[in-house]
Amino acid sequence: MTDDLPDPRDNADADPCRAALHDIAAAADLRALEALRVALLGKAGWLTLRLKELGKLAPEARRARGVELNTLKESLLTAIEARRVALEESALAARLASERIDVTLPARPAAPGLIHPISRTMDEIAALFGAMGFTVAEGPDIETDWHNFGALNIPAHHPARADHDTFYLPPENGEGAPRVLRTHTSPVQMRTMLREKPPIRIIAMGRTYRADHDATHSPMFHQCEGLVIDRAITLGHLKGCLVDFLRAFFGLPDLPVRFRASYFPFTEPSMEVDIGWNRQSGELGRGSDWLEILGSGMVHAKVLANGGIDPGEWQGFAFGMGIERITMLKHGINDLRPFFDGDLRWLRHYGFSPLAPAMLHEGV
Ligand code: DAH
Repeated sequence: MTDDLPDPRDNADADPCRAALHDIAAAADLRALEALRVALLGKAGWLTLRLKELGKLAPEARRARGVELNTLKESLLTAIEARRVALEESALAARLASERIDVTLPARPAAPGLIHPISRTMDEIAALFGAMGFTVAEGPDIETDWHNFGALNIPAHHPARADHDTFYLPPENGEGAPRVLRTHTSPVQMRTMLREKPPIRIIAMGRTYRADHDATHSPMFHQCEGLVIDRAITLGHLKGCLVDFLRAFFGLPDLPVRFRASYFPFTEPSMEVDIGWNRQSGELGRGSDWLEILGSGMVHAKVLANGGIDPGEWQGFAFGMGIERITMLKHGINDLRPFFDGDLRWLRHYGFSPLAPAMLHEGV
């Protein structure tokens, strides 16, 4: 290194190489180091410009100067790399020191999140029907037209289909009827009958879909289906089972329950089930008003046959109810929309602690 090389910091008197090495070693952080690298070795850097000027020199002088500049470049690169490693190490050491975990600190109170009211209701339903010997069955959200309608005695053009206006998807292999987002949980009845031999005692809970949207209807909602099939199941079993469930679920041992003749294509006879309440105050179990809460009936012989079950040998009952509806009634929630808004403030208000799961010994 000779004195004729200009100082990168425009201090012509100092040894530019030593000055540059000194600056690199003193760089306070990675950003300062990078600025130095650019000033020295970048496109318009001090050394880069010198290297470009080599071509103007006579061959002899060029060789000597070339060796000199390249040696300088090597030592600058080595110094920059050494400084970079040192800076990174001390940054890491500083982080490790500042972020050290004090394992002796007492634990914070657990904040495990909250259970959504819909999930809570499903847990309660599973606990109550579980105690009556039911198991939980499942089916897909995307159903075939046959499982959702045809097998349940709702043929094409049946007026009941109009109540179940829904979302259609192309058929699986591009042929046949379009698939549907299931409009109710009833197709799980069919899937269970085709999969299992009677006796059958299941509930099926999950998402259902209809083309509806207002304060009391959501395009996606939840239902619970029940199906019991045995040799001598009667309407008495249906009534006893549902009355017990409703009284336990709402925590009202005297809750009035009324069975009202109705029509569903997949049951015969069919009944709507109402509970007593006061329309004005919303209070359940009091007052002289009735509120429709679920549909039920004895499984239609055609439905049994479609499920591969001999209606001469077996019979049973089924029911279906909306999970949002009974959740809103039980907890005094009067708007359906926030159920699916994902608003944490709403969940903090209406959510349930996962540490107190639905259990029967305290009532659900
Ligand atoms: N699937 C009916 C609906 O969504 C509800 C229903 C009624 C289900 C009667 C049943 C039943 O299993 O027996 O409107």
